[in-house]
Amino acid sequence: MPGWRLSSVLVVVAPLLVIFVVLTRTPTAAQTTSGDAGRGAALFQQCAACHSLEPGVHLTGPSLAAIWNRPAGTVPRFGRYSDGLKRAGITWDAATLDRWLARPQAVVPDTTMTFPGMENAHQRADVVAYLKAVAEGKAPPTAGGGMMAMGPRTDLKRVGKERRVTAIRHCGDAYHVTTESGRTIPYWEFNLRFKTDGSPNGPQPGNPVLATAGMQGDRAQVVFNGLDDLKRFLVERCEEPAR
Ligand code: HEC
Repeated sequence: MPGWRLSSVLVVVAPLLVIFVVLTRTPTAAQTTSGDAGRGAALFQQCAACHSLEPGVHLTGPSLAAIWNRPAGTVPRFGRYSDGLKRAGITWDAATLDRWLARPQAVVPDTTMTFPGMENAHQRADVVAYLKAVAEGKAPPTAGGGMMAMGPRTDLKRVGKERRVTAIRHCGDAYHVTTESGRTIPYWEFNLRFKTDGSPNGPQPGNPVLATAGMQGDRAQVVFNGLDDLKRFLVERCEEPAR
């Protein structure tokens, strides 16, 4: 009887199918869902130089506060995405994040995320679990992240007058930087960098900030609020300004 035979075949085959599906799915499921958010928070230190987990705070890379289930390249007010990431057509979930963190360049060849990738699948799963927990409000965004010593997170509106710049003049191969404390420091022009920081932690308009950089103390940077200050402060003049 064909009906009887079909059902007995099903009785044998159905459990085998279930076992097959479970066996073949388990490795991916383990890789993508068994991450430990606590360990991921510590591992996020590898990302924290370039990514904040506070909403709206963009560094070299966009804020990752709400990356879970978001289409790639769409974090609001981050205007520096590569064309490749914007057109990737990916939505961030456990599987896509796992591939991205293994080797970003393999997903988007022209990406500007200059990160070699994490080889260890368990570590990737931990970071992914942490990003999910942060997005769902289950993990504090600051845990493990920490701030880089030279990072842009120091509030440059709260520096002392020995770092608040009142004048900069260029003469020959030097910049002479005068601070509110009355000191004028000469720098070889090649050792002084100029930056702008219009973020909430950037300097006050009209108050550029001097920060030393490097081990020798011969290098420094001046951070301006924006281009208006940069254009106004940089002048060519060899005489000391009259006091
Ligand atoms: C050297 C800086 C740098 C490091 C380190 C870095 N990233 Fe990125 N990340 C970027 C930049 C820049 C982008 C934007 C890439 C683009 O547009 O192609 C980005 C993009 C991303 C995106 C996609 C964001 C979006 O809006 O689609 C994710 C997710 C991401 N990074 C996660 C991480 C994680 C997790 C780590 C640590 C394991 C990390 N990144 C380390 C700079 C970095």
